[in-house]
Amino acid sequence: MAKKEPYILVPGGAGYIGSHTVKLLINRGHNVLVLDNLSTGHVGAVDEKAKLIVGDVNNLHLLQKIFKKYNIVGVMNFAGKIIVPESVHNPITYFEENVNSVASLLRAMKQFNCQNFVFSSSASVYGTSDVEKITEDAPTHPESPYAFSKYSAENLIRFCERPYGIRHVIFRYFNVAGSYDTCEIGEAHPQETHLIPTTVINAINDTQMTIFGNDYNTPDKTCVRDYIHIMDLAEAHVKGMEYLLNGGSSQTINLGSENGYSNLQIVQTAQEVLKKQINFVFGPRREGDPAKIVASNAKAKEILNWEPTRDLETMIRSDFTWRQTHPKLYNDFEEKKVSQQDLQKVLKVRGAKNISKMYEEVELKQQEHLKDLYKQNKKFCGNKILSK
Ligand SMILES: NC(=O)c1ccc[n+]([C@@H]2O[C@H](COP(=O)([O-])OP(=O)(O)OC[C@H]3O[C@@H](n4cnc5c(N)ncnc54)[C@H](O)[C@@H]3O)[C@@H](O)[C@H]2O)c1
Repeated sequence: MAKKEPYILVPGGAGYIGSHTVKLLINRGHNVLVLDNLSTGHVGAVDEKAKLIVGDVNNLHLLQKIFKKYNIVGVMNFAGKIIVPESVHNPITYFEENVNSVASLLRAMKQFNCQNFVFSSSASVYGTSDVEKITEDAPTHPESPYAFSKYSAENLIRFCERPYGIRHVIFRYFNVAGSYDTCEIGEAHPQETHLIPTTVINAINDTQMTIFGNDYNTPDKTCVRDYIHIMDLAEAHVKGMEYLLNGGSSQTINLGSENGYSNLQIVQTAQEVLKKQINFVFGPRREGDPAKIVASNAKAKEILNWEPTRDLETMIRSDFTWRQTHPKLYNDFEEKKVSQQDLQKVLKVRGAKNISKMYEEVELKQQEHLKDLYKQNKKFCGNKILSK
């Protein structure tokens, strides 16, 4: 029997970071299979050449079907929930979505002997740190349920190396911003909490924004963060996966620029870049926000021969251009409201033994709606709903 073509499975590949990485993986000649429940992702963000399966990464039966059908040689997982304050109020959901999902993926990888795993973790696992530049061996001190969920998933992945031979590159991202170099895709979270897009959106709309906290122990009393351009980050992921496919050993690697900017500096830089006055006020601190986090990226340079090349101005300008050229972003928020309800019905029966039965629970009318939505986007869907 002819050997099946190798695929990289990308859960969460319809989201912000996933979709940019998928595009680069495809440009590098990899076959990509995106698995996404579209809870915060967008069909329109997924590269035309990738296959898209609408489904939940927590659904082990679906994962087993995928691994059986395709020759998955590596998994790059971006799926998860990402809002720190929300995690403070819904810790169970954050552990279900960010840890259980990783357990399902690892279980399927073990069963089908897939040994290369790239994982999206976060600099929030370090918590507040006094060091100038945080290295990967710095003590970890997660300060929110979100950070704990990332830290727990990291450890689960590490535990799976010895018994199952699954090697990993765990990337700890600092703050990611900007859009694809061509500005054809960009950041479009349903609820935007990140500072650069929030600043740009307020600049475009002439609305008032809030800087959370001006009583931190930093030079201008606002939080200091390390910002990295999405394209630099996506390039590191491609290198990370190729490193594992070439037999590289497991690593935990920071992805940051080594440049710390305060919240106030971000707003001031945006004013200069966009040549516009931005209306802002100071608000109270957000729960779970450490004062300062800046990366050392020496390890990424050494192991992956990777270096960030795009600066803060480029991040702000590319985010602005993406929003100016795509005023409705992916244009699917309205449609998604309906299709999401349909999908939720499917997802509610997660773990059902009989997958085709589970999809049949979606009414025909709703199936038609989904069919149209995906036809419009000319994407492949491996989902039973669409194959009827
Ligand atoms: N954006 C940042 O600045 C940042 C910083 C540090 C770490 N991270 C990590 O990077 C990853 C990606 O972040 P992002 O900004 O692209 O977020 P995002 O919300 O844009 O992307 C997440 C994607 O995962 C999908 N998804 C969520 N739960 C799923 C599930 N159960 N099954 C299938 N698909 C599911 C969503 O629909 C979405 O497409 C996250 O794990 C996040 O913790 C992001």
